[in-house]
Amino acid sequence: MTDLAQLEATAEALVAEGKGILAADESDGTIKKRFDSIGIESTEESRRAYRDMLFTTEGAEEYISGVILFDETIRQTSADGTPFPKLLESRGIIPGIKVDKGAKPLANAPGETITEGLDGLRERLNEYRELGARFAKWRAVFSITDDLPSQYCEWTNAHALARYAGLCQEAGLVPIVEPEVLQDGTHTIERSFIVTSRVLGAVFTELFDQKVELEGILLKPNMVLSGYDAPHRASADEVADSTLRCFRRHVPAAVPGIVFLSGGQSDEDATAHLNAMNVRGPHPWELSFSYGRALQAPSLKAWAGQSDQVEAGQRAFYHRAKMNSAARTGVYAPEMERDFVAGGT
Ligand code: 13P
Repeated sequence: MTDLAQLEATAEALVAEGKGILAADESDGTIKKRFDSIGIESTEESRRAYRDMLFTTEGAEEYISGVILFDETIRQTSADGTPFPKLLESRGIIPGIKVDKGAKPLANAPGETITEGLDGLRERLNEYRELGARFAKWRAVFSITDDLPSQYCEWTNAHALARYAGLCQEAGLVPIVEPEVLQDGTHTIERSFIVTSRVLGAVFTELFDQKVELEGILLKPNMVLSGYDAPHRASADEVADSTLRCFRRHVPAAVPGIVFLSGGQSDEDATAHLNAMNVRGPHPWELSFSYGRALQAPSLKAWAGQSDQVEAGQRAFYHRAKMNSAARTGVYAPEMERDFVAGGT
């Protein structure tokens, strides 16, 4: 297989029918916030135990094609001593790795950030590949206000995303390219459409200019939504129509898949929105999920750091994975949520 054919095969496997990605790559700061919400301390062992619970959920591989790990996690092991990447691989789940070093203040751009991590990235990617990773993730962040994001922020982040993507492909890893337009604020869905369009325009220009092979990437974007505090909240139909219109304009058909982030939507909204888009298919690209919070929130709550609640946590995770798998195929219905409450799944 040529290098590109290998990348394409990995990208296609990550968006295989009925499957999507679990983002479990919370940085130490973010996982601490999640653990604070259930009142447990974030230690190396509590983080390991939590991820172990998710990764050993029986049957999750029916719905989960890949898992994005954090640097600490890719080096940790399951309770029986099996390294996490090996455990996932043995279950047919592809291990991935977050490689950016976070969003830092962008010089001369108050309120905006640039994602760092390019220095030494080539070497780190080679190490991660040795550790078992087959794909990677880099997240750029854009806030919406009346005046932001600036063009400067859009293009510097797009440039960095493309540099990262090129290095990943050189190392034989599929880059997940993640430009996230945050939905915090009171903006309308129309404003989200305009900003998401501009950001995607910059990202695909940079990917093209830097010779990234679009057949060997996945795009991980936000959906086009109204701001979380907007006076008028866009419906699932509006979200699906606006998001598809935006992506048809800006995402070349060569890209095998779009795997959405959930970005603070409720679990069920994230599922319903993905379903509404897939119902409108077929599309030029697979439309799937790469959710963090929307796959994990009920599971984290059910587990609550208690070793005797591992099974409850796994049931909750399995249920959300199953619901999102249905949405990824366009066959989700809110009534399916009831099976879980009744103990049916
Ligand atoms: P959320 O689905 O919680 O937004 O997380 C996805 C992710 O990986 C953000 O980088």
